[in-house]
Amino acid sequence: MLATKTIAEEILDLKRERRAILLAHHYQEAEIQEIADVIGDSLELARKAQSFDGEVIAFAGVWFMAETALILNPERIVVVPDSEAGCSLVDACPAEQLRAWKRRHPDHAVVAYINTSAEVKAESDILCTSRNAVAVVNSIPAEQPILFVPDVNLGNYVKAQTGRENMKIWQGACIVHATFPARRLTAKKAEFPEAPIAAHPECPADVLRMADFIGSTSAIIEWCGRQDADDIIVMTESGVRFTLEKESPDKRFHFVANEQCNCSECPYMKRNTLEKLRDSLRDLAPRVELPRDLMDRARIPVERMLALR
Ligand code: 13P
Ligand code: SF4
Repeated sequence: MLATKTIAEEILDLKRERRAILLAHHYQEAEIQEIADVIGDSLELARKAQSFDGEVIAFAGVWFMAETALILNPERIVVVPDSEAGCSLVDACPAEQLRAWKRRHPDHAVVAYINTSAEVKAESDILCTSRNAVAVVNSIPAEQPILFVPDVNLGNYVKAQTGRENMKIWQGACIVHATFPARRLTAKKAEFPEAPIAAHPECPADVLRMADFIGSTSAIIEWCGRQDADDIIVMTESGVRFTLEKESPDKRFHFVANEQCNCSECPYMKRNTLEKLRDSLRDLAPRVELPRDLMDRARIPVERMLALR
């Protein structure tokens, strides 16, 4: 009797048939990360999408990340396991409202976080991610005023790091990081007083003030690997535990829950499952599709960012 294939095996077979690559963000379920070709932060995954030469990109992440992959690969097929895998930051900044803001500040350059819709990207001068936001803003002449969208915490952090007084910041927030309470971090630190703290820049300012390191998901993983401490407090989505524990099996990682769901999980990222991933590769749906002229406009700020090293 033939043994039945596991879902992971079905995905690997479909991946070969479709000449597909599986890109997974660090916040995906461990079982998805286990079979991914590349696991990364939003910048690394955008770079990987830029250099891809197969036919299908299966993007296990959220929709804006997959849109960025399509913008960089307009001839390829890009699928996402769940079409509802959105992001509160994307929702916080509708393109029409950004256009109105630009009309009120016509001399400002727009720096958009990658966590935006393709339409917002198309309205922007340059993109940034949590990994390169400081470098992107520093690449803009000091006298050039800036509109920064949409994350208020990342924007405030970048403003403090660059000393850019001429930077106006949109008031969007990540529903996961922005709700990590500093008092819970204080309690965790009391439990593990020797533990250094790593935080994602989408966290509120009072959390970031307590952090020993602030960076993107991959930057946090790299930094944790270099620490001597046995215990480390990690202020980001708990999906990073997969790579943290693989790369540093001797360390213990402590996550601080938010108050809405008493967890540190992104409900959008967690919509993706192995079953949905298999179906998306089999059916080539949900498929990301964007008008060609929109992609052409959105590609300019994305490529400007990727050209910065
Ligand atoms: P990274 O840039 O660290 O991948 O973060 C993306 C994101 O959505 C964080 O919540
Ligand atoms: Fe968006 Fe926050 Fe989820 Fe990242 S963790 S995808 S910023 S809602």
